[in-house]
Amino acid sequence: MASGLQARKKESWKIFDDIAKTYDPLNRLLSMGIDVYWRHKLLKHLPNKKNMITLDLATGTGDVPVVLVKSPDITKVIGMDLSKGMVEIGQQKMKKHGLDHIVDLRIGDGTDISLPDSSVDMVTISFGIRNFSDPKKSLKEILRVLRPGGRVQIMEFSIPKNWFFRKVYFFYFRNLLPFIGNIISGHKDAYTYLNETVEDFAYGEEFKGWLEEAGFKNSTYDVLTFGIATLYRGDKA
Ligand SMILES: C[S@@+](CC[C@H](N)C(=O)[O-])C[C@H]1O[C@@H](n2cnc3c(N)ncnc32)[C@H](O)[C@@H]1O
Repeated sequence: MASGLQARKKESWKIFDDIAKTYDPLNRLLSMGIDVYWRHKLLKHLPNKKNMITLDLATGTGDVPVVLVKSPDITKVIGMDLSKGMVEIGQQKMKKHGLDHIVDLRIGDGTDISLPDSSVDMVTISFGIRNFSDPKKSLKEILRVLRPGGRVQIMEFSIPKNWFFRKVYFFYFRNLLPFIGNIISGHKDAYTYLNETVEDFAYGEEFKGWLEEAGFKNSTYDVLTFGIATLYRGDKA
């Protein structure tokens, strides 16, 4: 990985602090609403448990918790993120939706999780792990905090295999998305950085291998919307 990119990842939460206010509306605009549909996929693959406590890492403004609480089998969602700006917007959102009694958003590091061993039934991360400075350490931490029979679900951008979609995708991600994102967020290069992290990150079989290496069982993945995003899963034995 380019050393400049790795250095920026250590403090990527600062970028999110700067763009927190425009993060949600820009997500809807730049993904044309598909991001909401993708997050709902998490509900289709819940572990077969009742009264679950789940943990959402890199929760940002809490868009994953908002989806997860729709399941009657989930009684509490803890969301952690290093960006105070993102978490504060998330906390306001939970209050507005009357969800603050079941969704607990706090500052927390996805690579050094401040929870005891075997304390949650599921861990989710959506569009977060590629921003972590040490994603493999995060996977080991996730395995540690999961209860036996628990599951991790990770949603991340990937790169379409089909040459046509790949061409359209690169044009959009390398040109349009950074241009619109940087202007509307008012940040000089936040959306250029976000694009660079996508192209630099493991996906498909390589990322599935990372799950296996960390010790997850039954690891698998579903390719979403021509390969623009991928949903990975793994279980704790
Ligand atoms: C692209 S946002 C994703 C937010 C949300 N999960 C979503 O689906 O919209 C990535 C988030 O990762 C957070 N982040 C970066 N490094 C982190 C770390 N080491 N631990 C926790 N969160 C981190 C950033 O602050 C940012 O809010």
